[in-house]
This record gives sequence, structure tokens and C-alpha cells, in this order.
Amino acid sequence: MRTRVAIIGAGPAGLTLARQLALQGIDSVVVEHRDRTYIETRTRAGILEQPTVTLMHELGAGTRLAAEGMDHDGFYLRFDRTTHHLDFHRLVGGHATVYPQQELVKDLVALRLEADGPILFETKAVGIDTKPDGVVVHAEGPGGPLTIEADFVAACDGFHGIGRTHIPESERVEVTRTYPVAWLGILARTAPATPEGMYCAHEDGMSLHSMRGPHITRQYLQVPPDTDLEDWPDERIWDELTRRSESVDHPELERGEIFDKSLAPLRSYVCETMQNGRLFLLGDAAHIVPPAGAKGLNLAVSDACVLSYALGAYYRDGIREHLDSYSRTCLPRIWQAQHFSWLLTTTFHTLSDDPMDLQLRLSRMRRWVESEAEQRALGEVYLGLPFPTPW
Ligand code: FAD
Ligand code: DHB
Repeated sequence: MRTRVAIIGAGPAGLTLARQLALQGIDSVVVEHRDRTYIETRTRAGILEQPTVTLMHELGAGTRLAAEGMDHDGFYLRFDRTTHHLDFHRLVGGHATVYPQQELVKDLVALRLEADGPILFETKAVGIDTKPDGVVVHAEGPGGPLTIEADFVAACDGFHGIGRTHIPESERVEVTRTYPVAWLGILARTAPATPEGMYCAHEDGMSLHSMRGPHITRQYLQVPPDTDLEDWPDERIWDELTRRSESVDHPELERGEIFDKSLAPLRSYVCETMQNGRLFLLGDAAHIVPPAGAKGLNLAVSDACVLSYALGAYYRDGIREHLDSYSRTCLPRIWQAQHFSWLLTTTFHTLSDDPMDLQLRLSRMRRWVESEAEQRALGEVYLGLPFPTPW
């Protein structure tokens, strides 16, 4: 099979790129290891930045997002048992929108299948050959092995995909940090504790109370990295979420049916070598942020924007320069998101028992609550820095 761009992975990065290319008349083939139901139901991120929402409208993927997404002005912050609201919208404009990642994936899959071309589900890329004049992706699907010949390959295949490993280790510039904590996440049938998501900084660890709609909450607990979910029956999770979110100004947390439980490690990782000849890395294939700040999905979409523009310039005008500067164009925004996620991670979590650390974290949060200048700086990044524009 022959195409211009072979896209590995139908997550937010791959699907966004495929749509952007189709709108420019550039054909692509998308291969996805999992089946359609799996990718359309997998619980993951839920907060979209303003630039992501604006882009989805431009791509024609905004109808359900506009009808079902919940616009948030900022977030709540609770420490010393007292609740504060940081209203970023008032200071910087725009919103964050609560819309589950799997719903966005569903919308983009539907668009692709209706208007743009197929997605080869249950097809796993197992090898990549890059040559000066093209690439070959070797894959295994339900009908057996297949090869895709293309001009370029976009590895949108997540942190554990094969794209990054194709770049020789000696050529990869990688920066990484792991945190000594994990997030235990739940989905529950309860009303949200606050109208917008809330981070609670408690001496025994952070809790985060987010939502997926008016009747479903997404809540997280800081837990040790070696946590076994078997040790966390529902009652224990509710007890801990309740204790860490106790306040003098709100009623106790509502309890209800928990219908999803998961565990996620916290790490910061950037592969600065996002391009190797005709191979490009996008999204989680190139970088991971710790989840505080909700940047992962948004960064994946932002990488797709940069690459689709660069490929557009190449096919339309024969300009290679934007392809060659792909990593350089993406990295500053990636590092801003890394910095923001690190800042929220180190402020809200208890990462040591050093009383100095605790006091420094509290003083930082007090400044955030007292100072409009601090709120503006946080809000600019939380609601979403503009996507990179090399042009
Ligand atoms: P992915 O969404 O991972 O998509 C990659 C796709 O490639 C997958 O569908 C995979 O099946 C496919 N694939 C992999 N290998 C191959 C192969 N060899 N051949 C073909 N297909 C392949 N971010 C937040 O902002 N907030 C959150 O609350 C949050 N929670 C998360 C919870 C979990 C458990 C995880 C894992 C991530 C979470 N994230 C969160 C991060 C966010 O979901 C990711 O940043 C986002 O999905 C990145 O999109 P992507 O398209 O780069 O990769
Ligand atoms: C979610 C919300 C957040 O504010 C965050 O930092 C991470 C995740 C969520 O709703 O999943």
C-alpha cells in the first residue's frame, strides 16, 4: 500500500494530524494496534485547553464538544482546610473545557471514517525502514502482514510505541525525571465537590476532585508508586478522598458508586530528538508530563499542528525548512508545559517530610491566591499557550 504520510497510532495526535492533512488534500494511512471500541472507551485525559477547542472547531470536530463540553474559568485550590477559586478567564480570556479524551477520539474517528479515509484497526506497526527518499512501515493486521510505503512516517504511537525506538539511542537527546508518587484515579457516580476541578494540598498527600459531567466525577489520590489497587477497596478510597479534602467552608465529599479505578505513575520525560530524517515523533511518543495541569493531550494536538503545517508547506510549496525545524519549533511549548506540570506537581503533592518544603509550598499557594499577577501567569499556561508558529 502506498501513501504520502504513514501515521502510527489513532490517539489524539494521530487522528488530529490525519484530519489536518486531509483538509490540505494530503493522503495518509492510519494504523492502530487496538480495536475501535477500545480506543473509543479508554478513560484518560479530560481537560482541553482553549487552543485545542478552537482547533477542533476548525477541523469540524466541534459539534458534540460545543454541546457537551463544560467550560471552566479556572480551578479551585484548597489548603489549610480553606477553599479558593482561581478565575483565569477573567484575567486572560478563554476557557478550559471538560470533555473526555475518549469522546474527542470518537469524534475524530467518525470524521476520518466518514470523510477522509480508513483507519486500519487491530493493525500493529512492527518495523520501520527509513531511506533518503521514503519510508516503509511494516505492520501486522487481521489479514496478516502488510507494508505501507510512504514519503514520511508520523509516530503517534504513545510512550510505549515503536517510533521512538527506531531513532538510535546514541542520537536521542532525552531528559527524564520520575516522581516518588503515583495517582490512583477513579470515576464515580457523584456530584462534583465544586463547580470546577479542585486540587487539595493535604499534609498526607494531594487529592484532586475533577469531573466528566454534572453527575460523574473523576477524582485522584496521591499514593505510593508501588500501590496495589487490590489494597484500595471503595470505602478506603472514599475515606481518604474525604479526609484529604476536609474544609471549613464546604460540606463533606459526596460518596457514590465507583465504576473505574486506575493507577498512573508520575514522570516528566522529553525526547528532544523529535525528528530523525523522514520519521517524526508526536505526543506521548516524544514526551510525558506528570498529570497535574492536564497537559498531555493538549501537547499531542499541538505537535500535530506543527507537523501538519510543515507537511502542508512541503507538499504545496516544496519548502523543507519547516520539516527540518520540527523539533526546534515544538520544544519551547513542550518545556513550558513541562514546567507548569512540575510546578503544580511539586506544589500540591507531599513529596518529603521536610517542614521547610511544606512551608515553601504553602507560601507559594498563598501568593497564588493573593496575587492577580501570579494568577495571570498561571492562567496563561493553564488555559493554553498559543500553538507554536514558525511561519
Ligand atoms: P495515545 O493516546 O497513547 O495514542 C497512541 C495510540 O497508538 C494508541 O491508540 C495505541 O494503541 C497506538 N499504538 C501504540 N503502539 C502502536 C503500534 N506499534 N502500532 C499501531 N498503533 C500503536 N493527560 C491529561 O492531560 N490528563 C489526564 O488526566 C490524563 N490521564 C491519563 C491516564 C492514563 C492511564 C494515561 C496512560 C495517560 C493519561 N494522560 C492524561 C495523558 C494523555 O492521555 C496522553 O498525553 C494522550 O493520550 C497522548 O496522546 P497521543 O496521541 O500522543 O498518544
Ligand atoms: C484532570 C484534571 C486536572 O485538573 C488535572 O490536573 C489532571 C486531570 C482530569 O479531569 O482528569
